Amino acid sequence: MQSLTELEQLAIDAAFNLTDGHPRQTLTTSQATIVQRLPVLFAEAAVRPLADLEYECKESFFSLLGQHSAPIADGRVFSVYSSSVATMAVAAAFAESGSRVGLLHPTFDNLHDLMNRVLPVVPIEEGLRPTERVRAAVEGGASVLFLTTPNNPTGQVVNEHELREYVTLCLEYDLTLCLDTSFRGFDPRAQFDHYSLLESSGVRYIIVEDSGKLWPVLEMKLGFVAVSRHWRKQVEHALSDILLSVSPLVLALVRELSRDSMAGGMQKMQQLISRNRRIVSDAVRSLSDVRVLDEEARVSVLRLEFESSDLATEVREELHLTGMHVLPCDQFHWSDPSQGRRTLRIALSRDESVIQRLVTTLIDVMSSRKLESVA
Ligand SMILES: Cc1ncc(COP(=O)(O)O)c(C=O)c1O
Repeated sequence: MQSLTELEQLAIDAAFNLTDGHPRQTLTTSQATIVQRLPVLFAEAAVRPLADLEYECKESFFSLLGQHSAPIADGRVFSVYSSSVATMAVAAAFAESGSRVGLLHPTFDNLHDLMNRVLPVVPIEEGLRPTERVRAAVEGGASVLFLTTPNNPTGQVVNEHELREYVTLCLEYDLTLCLDTSFRGFDPRAQFDHYSLLESSGVRYIIVEDSGKLWPVLEMKLGFVAVSRHWRKQVEHALSDILLSVSPLVLALVRELSRDSMAGGMQKMQQLISRNRRIVSDAVRSLSDVRVLDEEARVSVLRLEFESSDLATEVREELHLTGMHVLPCDQFHWSDPSQGRRTLRIALSRDESVIQRLVTTLIDVMSSRKLESVA
């Protein structure tokens, strides 16, 4: 079976690419102004000390997301090229320490694939409560509980009360808590200060943060890995196998985009996603045999569930014929792909006109199917 990223690669130059969660909407006016200033940022990045640029970038990015207690000043937040690179290094550190990982199910398949290449991974079902998830991890022999919050593709968030529960349980059962928070920018419910709780508890933790889902700047992005003291040396060493440093220009760019988002850009982005979600939901309400899942979700992707797996496949193929690419959800269910067979995922970080076009095409596809079955 092809991975989600392989399917996303096939769609990268499609007329309508609604597959990947990478932002592809038009820049806002203030973002375009930042892009026009790239030569100025380049000149700044070429002469200033890397440590200063990194500090300013991390301060701006983590503040934007409400993560005021992240251990930046203590040197325990590392910058990397992307969140997958962060996950690779974390997987290497876990493997070196002989860890087994309990990973959320479903979630983005590359988290499973990168981990499972080097260590054993057991599924932790998303429908379970925190106590049950921890029990499943312990019974599966895991020493790490790995959650994605907000989750891709379901948008489920670990709230503050639940995070407190996880911290208590991880301390009790001697587990490391590992979070991928790549989608946190979309959901204010994921922007309470996680590090305040984690740092004061003494729990072993690793968090992967990501700028790459927020701003449509042609893959100029950063991942960050924040670690508790316990993991510092191993993660730092694993990262040194991969990179010397990120680009100072990208640090300056992410700093500027973070500041712009703090000055109102974040709300604009959240409004775009919410409008796009509403356009799809309103249209789907008038259709039979398909419904929108995850009503509480605020992330930049949306799941549609069809009456049958055959119908989901047929609709995806019909959309494809019109140049419109969306993702199947089988691969998110990395432990049991059959659970995702009736579901398609649509990317919402797109211009409203692209989403309108998807909706019109979806209505056409579903209506012509109905006519065929009547004839
Ligand atoms: C939850 C999550 N983490 C990590 C990644 C990987 O991001 P990147 O391809 O920018 O490394 C993705 C990709 O969509 C994702 O959904």
